[in-house]
Amino acid sequence: MSQAPAVSYADFYRQSIDQPDAFWAEQAKLIDWFKPFDRVCNYDNPPFARWFEGGKTNLCFNAVDRHLKDRASQPALIAVSTETLTEKTYTFSELHAEVMRMAASLKSLGVQKGDRVLIYMPMIAEAAFAMLACARLGAIHCVVFGGFASGSLASRIEDASPKVIVSADAGSRGGKAIAYKPLLDEAIRLSAHKPDAVLLADRGLAPMALVAGRDHLWADLRQQHLAAQVPCEAMDSTDISYTIYTSGTTGKPKGVQRDTAGYTVALAASMKHIFDGRPGETFFSTSDIGWVVGHSYIVYGPLIAGMATIMYEGLPTQGMDGQPDGGIWWRLVEKYQVTGMFSAPTAVRVLKKQDPALLKKYDLSSLRALFLAGEPLDEPTARWISEGLNVPIIDNYWQTETGWPLLTVANGVEATRSKFGSPGVPMYGYRVKLLHENTGEELTQPNEKGVVVVEGPTPPGFMQTIWKDDARFVNTYWKSVPGKLVYSTFDWGIRDEDGYYFILGRTDDVINVAGHRLGTREIEESISGHPQVAEVAVVGVADNLKGQVAMAFAVLKDPAQAQDEVQAKKLEAEIMKRVDGDLGAVARPARVRFVTVLPKTRSGKLLRRAIQAVCEGRDAGDLTTMDDPAALEQIRDRMAS
Ligand code: PRX
Repeated sequence: MSQAPAVSYADFYRQSIDQPDAFWAEQAKLIDWFKPFDRVCNYDNPPFARWFEGGKTNLCFNAVDRHLKDRASQPALIAVSTETLTEKTYTFSELHAEVMRMAASLKSLGVQKGDRVLIYMPMIAEAAFAMLACARLGAIHCVVFGGFASGSLASRIEDASPKVIVSADAGSRGGKAIAYKPLLDEAIRLSAHKPDAVLLADRGLAPMALVAGRDHLWADLRQQHLAAQVPCEAMDSTDISYTIYTSGTTGKPKGVQRDTAGYTVALAASMKHIFDGRPGETFFSTSDIGWVVGHSYIVYGPLIAGMATIMYEGLPTQGMDGQPDGGIWWRLVEKYQVTGMFSAPTAVRVLKKQDPALLKKYDLSSLRALFLAGEPLDEPTARWISEGLNVPIIDNYWQTETGWPLLTVANGVEATRSKFGSPGVPMYGYRVKLLHENTGEELTQPNEKGVVVVEGPTPPGFMQTIWKDDARFVNTYWKSVPGKLVYSTFDWGIRDEDGYYFILGRTDDVINVAGHRLGTREIEESISGHPQVAEVAVVGVADNLKGQVAMAFAVLKDPAQAQDEVQAKKLEAEIMKRVDGDLGAVARPARVRFVTVLPKTRSGKLLRRAIQAVCEGRDAGDLTTMDDPAALEQIRDRMAS
């Protein structure tokens, strides 16, 4: 066989920008098609890019069925839980059978192509079966992170209007069951939309009260469909595969919508060029299916590449015997011969507190790289893990909206050096620019700070639109720079003289707690619902372990209520409980502090950046527009107390 000529990444990138049709037509060969496409990219109606029009394919077929020919008996899904102390490997043929059983069960509950199925599940194999089953049927899945509580779940149910919800009796964290069913029942009660049916996996962790006629047990339906044969629906390239909710500037979460063929091609290409994953190997991503990383690199990406994927439920410091074990992930790398691992900087910072000998205890020679994403990777963390593992540590920057990395290095194309503190260079297909915050001028000189934007057409795999809201998609993402139709990432960045980007945080009100993206507005809305709260500001504050934590400053209707320390503590606990109940513990502020006035401009706009700066002990910047300078003093005082 003749060896393909070596390509430099610079040439590869250039081709993707200068000849996108030829470039992506070539990448499209990485997946299986039911019908070839007629047109690579239709960008007649910017900013809506339609990829591979006229083609027909199926995401589940590419992730599962197409591998049956060559690797039916090879591992596909490895479900490990240090919560329930269970470990089970499904081969491609077993996964295929489970997905067909799930698909048949969903069908029996009325699910058809185009219907929404909301998945609210812990990290168990059934969650992956449900996602793949939806893709198989052409139903649109909408996975909601299991750490979210009733309020968040209700607004997502209402927006997605699912025909069926798939859930479980409980999740588990640190050996403690967290009942999901009561949260789900409450969310359905709160939502104006009611699903026709609920399908529940019963793990035996928490008792469940079933609603007659609505609730069904997976074990029962699975039994009825043990021998089910459900073909993959031939989906149009641009048919919707899924939606996933993410936070922005307003309190209302956005349903990021993705297509079928573009996403499948993008993942196949990224597994090859960026993650260097090869068929028959094992990939281990420690994220959660509720986040985009879980969609792209726990479930779909590795399977499309013919790899086994590890789905891990548990803390990074918990062993298979229920005892603490800071080496559990390395144990799994050794046992399953993991070649590519994907995690978040916070997880590495947690592991850094463990005995360093744990990194030497296991044979990690199978591992070729560790990919980290979701939040800024600080140099000490990167150095520590790089020295410990002795493999390249590959920072990669992207967003729920992009679906796959926007900035990183593509070692699968050409071995490229990484720089500490930088995720890397623009990935093929992305026309990345830095623009001046106010003028919208392109910044061309090295080390100038600007907003990171992407010019259209956005590459395959990128969000199609916001579910049911094209206008919001255009106005939110594409109109933030006056006079220019460009996609804003809402991240600050700089580019050095070698073309490497450095990400300097968000330009909007999104915060990043332990790699979890949260909207401060959602947290504020929850806190404002407390009967004694008049006003509140939530900002993200730098934290050594989690990157950022949420900090709340509340003005009470009766400020005297917070004067007494005991009373203030009680109120703080009440407010935190409220956030736990509405949004989930993941959104709980680190502290709620009481002030009598919030820093605002004379026109009444909250000065969030100034509050954040004061909390982090930085200069608050230009305060000439500030209404009452004493307000910031109060923040400074409270932070010091
Ligand atoms: O602010 C950036 C930060 O996380 C945001 C996107 O979060 P999410 O939609 O949850 O998608 C995560 C996909 C990995 C970005 O706007 N972010 C993500 N990766 C990095 C990052 N910040 C710095 N470095 C990164 N590698």
